[in-house]
Amino acid sequence: MSEVNRRGFLSRAWKFGVSAMAAAGAWTSWDALRPRLPAGFGSRIKTVAPEAVPENTVIEVPQARAYLTKIDGQVVALSEVCSHLGCRVPYCDSSGQFECPCHGSVFNRAGDFLSGPAPRGMDMYATEIVDGVVEINTEEFLTGAPPGTETIIEPPKGPSCTESSHG
Ligand code: FES
Repeated sequence: MSEVNRRGFLSRAWKFGVSAMAAAGAWTSWDALRPRLPAGFGSRIKTVAPEAVPENTVIEVPQARAYLTKIDGQVVALSEVCSHLGCRVPYCDSSGQFECPCHGSVFNRAGDFLSGPAPRGMDMYATEIVDGVVEINTEEFLTGAPPGTETIIEPPKGPSCTESSHG
């Protein structure tokens, strides 16, 4: 190999090496920083038999970031992501309502908006009974009902969780 050819080869090899390292670095950064969703999110999540979904409370399905309950005998899947600014909304067993800890929005068991800064009720996911099991379709998102919607009328069962945690 002549001196000129050798220099050209080394120059190209060096550039290739730098490009490969840059690509590897970019991939590592993207892989480390990309948002992680729970396993199964963004698809159909198998849950429980429809008979196991309660009429007077809710069950949480963390893989779907949702709650299941029954309204007038129908299974409903409510998104646990607050329709205000996206905090996780816990269900308060003592009041029987959803109470967002971030800015105080309150929703009834059907996800109807009751109070606070949220612009609408809780968003929902489509559900389907497949082979005797409720499946939540997290790709079929249903926007929550506007304020004033009264799917059910259920006054608080007891004390609020957010009020009792503040003394
Ligand atoms: S995020 Fe729930 S009330 Fe603001």
